[in-house]
Amino acid sequence: MFAIVKTALRPAIARHSVVATTCRSKHTLPDLPYDYNALEPYISEEIMKLHHQKHHQTYVNGLNAAEESYASAKTTKEQIALQSALKFNGGGHINHSLFWKNLAPANGDGGKLSDGPLKKAIERDFGSVEDFKNKFNTTTAAIQGSGWGWVGFNTTTKKLEIVTTANQDPLISHVPIIGVDIWEHAFYLQYKNVKPDYLNAIWNVINFKEAEARFLEASS
Ligand SMILES: [Fe+2]
Repeated sequence: MFAIVKTALRPAIARHSVVATTCRSKHTLPDLPYDYNALEPYISEEIMKLHHQKHHQTYVNGLNAAEESYASAKTTKEQIALQSALKFNGGGHINHSLFWKNLAPANGDGGKLSDGPLKKAIERDFGSVEDFKNKFNTTTAAIQGSGWGWVGFNTTTKKLEIVTTANQDPLISHVPIIGVDIWEHAFYLQYKNVKPDYLNAIWNVINFKEAEARFLEASS
């Protein structure tokens, strides 16, 4: 009798586990941790509104749609066809979620790198804070097309390194400590084609406290 009940339950359990793996909650647009005009004059309110409400929202919608299609895909070929949409929209959602927390108003935590473990590591790996910012700006200004500039922690060498990724590719080779959006939508309305001006300005609103917390987590 027990064996029969057990056997009869099997398909139900199997069905349940499929449901459990495919019913994921939808991704949502995270709130900004500050007002849209809080990063003025370095990043305009107009850019922040469009960037958050339109661009980031589009990646969230695209990721939800791609995950839904993936869950109902009937063949491996159909799933493979969805890989680039998952990578592009998933990366866009991950990168922007990190970017907003990466920034802070200049009259708050923005731009202030106080003495501590992160500053020490920057001086150790780049010589000085100024050299570090110069190297970051030169490397990221050279990105062809759209991409992201990163200060990443290399878990093998235990060093901070400056790396770039193309399109919306998230940083996988390193632990992201600081990420800067180098897509034109991040600066064009204010800085036009002068990418170096955007890069120079952004240091005034980089949230080094957040960066240090990520650095400590990655290096501990
Ligand atoms: Fe962006």
